[in-house]
Amino acid sequence: MLRIVLLMMDVGFMSKALNKQSTEQQKTDTDTDSWAWLSGFNARKCKQPILYLALVEQLQYAIEQGWLRAGDKLATHRELSQHLQIAVATASKVYRHAREQGLIHARVGRGSYVSSFPVLGKAIRAHDYQSINLSIIKPQLAIGEVFLAQQLQALAAQTQLADLMDYNAQGSYTDRRAAFEWLTAQGVALDDKSISICSGAQHGLMVLINCLSEYGDNIAVEDYCYPGIISLANQMGRNLVAIEMDQQGMCPQSLEDACAQGKIKMLVVVASHQNPTAAVMSIARRKAIAKIVKKYAIPFIDDDVYGFLSPQLPALANFAPKQSFYLTSLSKSVFPGLRVAYIVAPEQYKIRIDAQIRQSIWMPAPLTLALASKLIFAGQAADIQRQQSEQAAKRQRLAAQFLVGFSYFSQPNSYHLWLLLPDVFTSESFCQALEQRGVLVSSSTYFNTSEQVACAAVRIALMAPNSEDELVFALKIIRTLLKEGMDNHK
Ligand SMILES: Cc1ncc(COP(=O)(O)O)c(C=O)c1O
Repeated sequence: MLRIVLLMMDVGFMSKALNKQSTEQQKTDTDTDSWAWLSGFNARKCKQPILYLALVEQLQYAIEQGWLRAGDKLATHRELSQHLQIAVATASKVYRHAREQGLIHARVGRGSYVSSFPVLGKAIRAHDYQSINLSIIKPQLAIGEVFLAQQLQALAAQTQLADLMDYNAQGSYTDRRAAFEWLTAQGVALDDKSISICSGAQHGLMVLINCLSEYGDNIAVEDYCYPGIISLANQMGRNLVAIEMDQQGMCPQSLEDACAQGKIKMLVVVASHQNPTAAVMSIARRKAIAKIVKKYAIPFIDDDVYGFLSPQLPALANFAPKQSFYLTSLSKSVFPGLRVAYIVAPEQYKIRIDAQIRQSIWMPAPLTLALASKLIFAGQAADIQRQQSEQAAKRQRLAAQFLVGFSYFSQPNSYHLWLLLPDVFTSESFCQALEQRGVLVSSSTYFNTSEQVACAAVRIALMAPNSEDELVFALKIIRTLLKEGMDNHK
């Protein structure tokens, strides 16, 4: 059941909200101030005596200050050398060093761009003890705590622990059976498919992107997508091609147009409770997307980490078994510290995928795999998953109470919501003002994969606070800020 909360809006609102800002506001190479990042730079006054390193520090400073944003295009090496009257070799060194530090990345044949890689930690704050953190999507840890304690005791009572201490082949026989049981219960079609176990979905994404594409290839993604994908693409030298979205996620027509140009090597799609917009694809939409990937024979990752929140919907992967690489983890449904994820791929890819896993981490930790398997066989993982979904529904109801009168996208039991900001705010100004009041949320700019300016919106992760009281406290602060903004504007 799809519930999009759309309050205070007109009919054309959806396109305004999900599409980027109007063409006049679109970011182009020419309207970015290419030299803004050098503002205040004076080589003679720098503490860093080596010029190219001083310039890299300046670049980093400019990114931290927000003078440069993820996706901004930088001047060429030659232009930089001319602008600063320095040797081209020195300018090249600046860019090379900045690339090595992950500050910028090169798009093949298109130039150098500011990466979202260094801001990933800003978009998603794993720990911030001073603030109420609504910037990370995670389940309620307390729900799984008792079960974890039980299974840890059960493990401690085991006398044969050698298998958990040894190198193994990416999961024991028991772990592979547990994976099979879990995936079957989630409704994933496993015929002619193989299962690989990796260390969290982020790792699974890296493994699959490595298996299915090469440096310089184009990967189609939603035009607002999970920043972990953006950072991987930047790091691995893949170009992201933004596919337009509507209230059901990725739009078939936009995907078809991109595929028809023949430049898409693979696709990553989140069909259920999309991060960040919480969009859920209907069955008809899943079939439409599957039809296109089959027509163009394009492999795709069905990143289904939130699929358990809509158990009535078949996985997108099921509609195109030959092209699909299904990926899910226990991070959102059970708890993220397990770092257990499953890849379901066409049989012939098994050797390649397992080789990538081995190459990157050798194997997922046997100890946490054993815990995950025990939780699955005892039915406790399913119990935790059900309780998480119920808790998410409760929190969405709380959010609805406090955000009444404002516009946002969500589902009745999503872990997060996508709040559309009144015109008086930009995403950054809203995030900063909230942070000053002790609440962290994530700006739309961190999710934006297109070359257009992101719409004014923020992602709010409702499950992150430890208690409902804490969430209510944060929601009151958010509501007050929104109202103040509107009142000051009158
Ligand atoms: C869409 C999506 N895919 C993958 C991940 C990574 O999950 P994991 O913690 O299993 O690495 C996340 C985490 O937020 C996510 O939102």
